[in-house]
Amino acid sequence: KFNFDNVLKDKIGENGISIDGIDELRDFTNIAKANVSKKYENGELGFIEALDKDLDEYEKVKELSKEFEYVIIIGIGGSILGSKAVHQGIYGSSNTYHPKVFYLDNSDPEKIYETLKAVKLEKTLIFVISKSGNTVETLANYFVIKKHMDKNNIIPAKPNFVAITGGGLLQKIAEKEGYMCYKVPENVGGRFSVLSAVGLAPLACLNVDIHNLVKGARKMNDICHTDNIFRNPALLNALIHYKMDNRGKKISLMMPYIGRLHQFGMWYRQLWAESLGKDGNGQTPVIALGATDQHSQLQLYMDGPEDKIMTFLKVNKFKQDYSIETDYDSDLIEHKLSELIISEQLGTEQSITEKGIPNVKITLSELNEYTLGMLMYGYELQTAYCGELLCINAFNQPAVEHAKKLSHAVLKGSIVEKSYNEIKIE
Ligand code: PA5
Repeated sequence: KFNFDNVLKDKIGENGISIDGIDELRDFTNIAKANVSKKYENGELGFIEALDKDLDEYEKVKELSKEFEYVIIIGIGGSILGSKAVHQGIYGSSNTYHPKVFYLDNSDPEKIYETLKAVKLEKTLIFVISKSGNTVETLANYFVIKKHMDKNNIIPAKPNFVAITGGGLLQKIAEKEGYMCYKVPENVGGRFSVLSAVGLAPLACLNVDIHNLVKGARKMNDICHTDNIFRNPALLNALIHYKMDNRGKKISLMMPYIGRLHQFGMWYRQLWAESLGKDGNGQTPVIALGATDQHSQLQLYMDGPEDKIMTFLKVNKFKQDYSIETDYDSDLIEHKLSELIISEQLGTEQSITEKGIPNVKITLSELNEYTLGMLMYGYELQTAYCGELLCINAFNQPAVEHAKKLSHAVLKGSIVEKSYNEIKIE
């Protein structure tokens, strides 16, 4: 369910918009939707084409993964955030399932040390994922692990590297070393790649039901075919965020009330920021976890600058639940933990709304591959629509590319650190 009551004038007063106001923008939203369709027909939107791809190609890597006890995924940004979000969305954060998974994104030496301590490399399937094939953090983590294996003469029973790339040095390495390889299509951008080989190959090996994930995405695609904005949640939420952005709501705050959606929030954070943060446009996405962050952030959200639109995410059914029992006199008696977290969401929503802060709510019947597929694809589409409403290209990332060039320049020594103003504390 997508509920947008709390962005309407009769709920939040002058900050709000009206049903008629949304309806009047029909031409504007239809053009945005038509532009996305045109881009798709021109072959520019690989994230939509991904819905029609045959998933059988992931069987061979899934078969290979049965030989291993651990999986390491090396990648950064769009090349890893989708798998992290889906894996946590299905399995949570405990890493007690088989196979155990470790993510290497940052070039943080302590992180790779901890990972090498936790796995047996001869029993580890290692994905190296980079669309460009040249991202330094990803290559560095790969080189360190590869050298560690060679130096210590670690030889797995079956070849244990899988490369997922669109070119660059990683492509060359994969060919030379004879790695199993999946292609990242040119028209699939990193942050839109979760339903391509980038997400699906590793997720299949982590026993995620990728068929249901894609089925959910297809369902959302069907739902969003309509021009009727009141039946098209991706288009409606794009317009709501666009309108609120124009009214100074420069922060898009997402607050899931279930831990398993926290990484989904991190995935959304990249999608929204990197796609729309251009030419002076773009809301800053912020993620908070309900109810935990009510105790650290809510004061600011309620009483700080009026610069936010909030999105609540909730699920109706948790995988496990506990009744709260005690002999002490307490309001909690005869309630379940799930009822507590659901009431906390409702309480926060009500108080935020009374303050006139616009908010929308997405409710999932339960969190599984199908609903997660719907949710992720819906947000990809929403981002594409919002790019069109803002008249910007949501699919490039010039500032990220520039930073990548600079990191090469620093490595080559053409940029050095110079400090003129600093306080040195000895
Ligand atoms: O969305 C994007 O384009 C970026 O976040 C990239 O995914 C990220 O920089 C990693 O790039 P690559 O896959 O080329 O290693």
